[in-house]
This record gives sequence, structure tokens and C-alpha cells, in this order.
Amino acid sequence: MITPCIAANWKMYKTTAQTAEFISEFLPSVKSVTDVEIIIAPPFTSLAKAGEMLKGSNVKLSAQDLYFEKEGAYTGEISLNMLIDVGCSYVIVGHSERRQYFNESDEFCNKKVKAAMAAGLSVMYCIGETRPERNSGKTFDIIKREIEGGLKDVAPEKLVIAYEPIWAIGTGVTATPQQAQEAHVYVREQLKALYGDKANEIRIQYGGSVKPENIAELMSQPDVNGALVGGASLKADSFAKIVKFR
Ligand code: 13P
Repeated sequence: MITPCIAANWKMYKTTAQTAEFISEFLPSVKSVTDVEIIIAPPFTSLAKAGEMLKGSNVKLSAQDLYFEKEGAYTGEISLNMLIDVGCSYVIVGHSERRQYFNESDEFCNKKVKAAMAAGLSVMYCIGETRPERNSGKTFDIIKREIEGGLKDVAPEKLVIAYEPIWAIGTGVTATPQQAQEAHVYVREQLKALYGDKANEIRIQYGGSVKPENIAELMSQPDVNGALVGGASLKADSFAKIVKFR
């Protein structure tokens, strides 16, 4: 049985003061939640503050990205040691916005996934197709390519998949529960090819315009094991409602 997980990806939103304000309001409202894993991924500058405030709580801390080298002359980059130092236990890799605006390839993501896991972090590895790719029937090809490329020589133990169809991100157009389920079944088949029965234990989260109004129906699908939430995770009351979807 996979424990459901609801994760917030704040993207490039929130100062440290706004982060503190959110967490002060959010933590008491989800204190009683024991059957859902809760994760928040603030921007780098808010991680240390969030890490202090979340310590000992039922909410885990994730980074939105990492660089795979241990240290060195990599201006602007953040290492895994730095993320662990401020309390991260998760990191997002391969978000479509990084693939699109920063040209991250499957091969580059693969280096990040491997480095993060070697350092002991769990990885939310993001995959998903664009609208033209879906319309031309390429959804499964994209999923297959991103899984095979990004997860080459990666062990399944600390792996989470986030299926985020790009056409559903920030658009208000959510995948229907059936579309999400169909894609997740295909993701699981691909994971089975890599990991055999262990694939049944890997969490597959859906992302793309998740809101308090649609979370319950999405989560009712057998292969939707969680959500990765952008816009609707920026307000504490809205994200708390999503966490308490049951
Ligand atoms: P939205 O929830 O704003 O569509 O963003 C989804 C996402 O990209 C989460 O990583």
C-alpha cells in the first residue's frame, strides 16, 4: 500500500517572510494529518527558514532543483550537501519548466537523480507531454523516453514519479481523472520494465492545475498516488484543503 503524498512546488514565489507566514498558518491546520505525506518545496532562499520551522513537524522539506557536483566553481548552483544542511529530504528533478527554459535533457536529469539518491535524498522526477505531443498521439512515447533516459541505472527505492502534462500546468485545464489514470498506468508499466514488482511500490503523483475542487476525484484513481501542486499550494488554506482531500 502506497502512502499518498501531497507536495507543494512554490516555483519562483515567496520571500522568507512570506514563507514563514505560510508555515505558521499551515502547520496547525494539518497537524492532525497522519495518513498523507506532506511536502513543501520553497525556492532556495527560503529553504533554511522553512527547514527550521518544519523541524519535528509532519511536513517534509524539498528543494526544487540541485546541481550534481559535490562543490566547486559552479557559479549560481546549489549542491546536495547544501540542501541536506538546511533540512531537505526531497528534491524535484526534471520539472518541465527546467526542461523548457533551461534546456535540461533526460541525460542531464539522470545525473541529478543519481547524485541526489547517492546523497540519500528522495527524488520527485517529473515527466509529461506538451499539448501538440498529446494531440499527435505521442504521449506514451514521451513518457517512455523520459523514464528510460532520466532513470538509467537508477534504483527504485527513493524514487517518486510526478506525471505533469505540460498543457495542464498553470493553465486551469486539469487532466481528467481518466486521462491521469491512463497515463499513470503506462508510467507504471514502464517502471515494471525497469524494476519488476518493485514498481508497484513507487509513488506516481499527478501535477497540473490541481485544486481543492478536483483533488478528491483525481486521488480516487487507483494509480494516482499523490499530487504535485503549483498555484493552489501558495495559499495555506487552499493547500491544507488539498492535503485533507479525504
Ligand atoms: P499548477 O498546479 O500551477 O498547474 O503547477 C503544477 C506544477 O507544475 C507543479 O510542479
